[in-house]
Amino acid sequence: MRLYRQLNRAFLSNRRTYGQRPVVSSTMDADEIKHFRSLANTWWDETGEFEALHAMNKIRIPFIRDGLVQQLEMSPRNPAEPLQGLSVVDVGSGGGLLTEPIARLGAFVVGIEPVEESTKIAQLHLEEDPRLLPRVKYITGSVEDLVSTEAETFDAVVASEVVEHVNDLEAFMASCCSLVKPGGSLFVTTMNKTLLSRTLAVFGAEKVFRIVPEGTHDWQKFVPPSDLQSILEKNHFHTRLLHGMLYMPVLREWRWVPDTSINYALHAVKD
Ligand SMILES: C[S@@+](CC[C@H](N)C(=O)[O-])C[C@H]1O[C@@H](n2cnc3c(N)ncnc32)[C@H](O)[C@@H]1O
Repeated sequence: MRLYRQLNRAFLSNRRTYGQRPVVSSTMDADEIKHFRSLANTWWDETGEFEALHAMNKIRIPFIRDGLVQQLEMSPRNPAEPLQGLSVVDVGSGGGLLTEPIARLGAFVVGIEPVEESTKIAQLHLEEDPRLLPRVKYITGSVEDLVSTEAETFDAVVASEVVEHVNDLEAFMASCCSLVKPGGSLFVTTMNKTLLSRTLAVFGAEKVFRIVPEGTHDWQKFVPPSDLQSILEKNHFHTRLLHGMLYMPVLREWRWVPDTSINYALHAVKD
């Protein structure tokens, strides 16, 4: 009888849902998880496997910062920390390359990442800057896990260079969307599914320029912006901004470009 009560309690707590949140299933792809586990030690090597992600910070951090400040019509009291008081979830936070700079802008950030080795590296790196410790919480798990355990909604959810690695994009996005407050923001950076992205972002980046490790990208999982936008609309979001992004391997720099046919960044707002 005692065992039955324990099991029943566990079952009920696992089933906890908050409001209209979706029924969850795993969006984690075993091969992707294995791939990122094998790279976990290299997150903070600025000239290593994740060099292009380090370089992307130069444009994606202002994109997120300015998007939030403008959308929420904030007039920051402290210009060095314009996101003070905001709460953000960084989905697929990896080693914390994006989590830390967002926290440095003043926000409270939850980094959710399925690869435990990456979360550990992220936590170790965070501890090098004690000022950030109270602002960042790393959790090992999937976004669905966070949905099923977190009652709060957030000012923003960021999924940068993640959607092209997940199983069941619709379920993944539904989970991300459910974590956003009404009027809050969702930021996605990812790769378009075009012939050009197949040639440059997979063949060129992995085999010719060796910007990212071989096997990082499966073109079949790339996402046209229109597909992402229609999923977002189903989840009651409208697009605020859509920009193309281009990596220049020789300069080791990302630039904003009008063309979204290779990489792009999208900012959507919950109605
Ligand atoms: C290319 S990395 C990007 C890391 C980080 N967002 C950044 O830009 O620095 C992709 C990350 O997504 C994580 N990931 C893969 N599948 C995921 C899923 N279903 N849910 C959440 N994160 C996932 C990987 O473990 C990896 O850390």
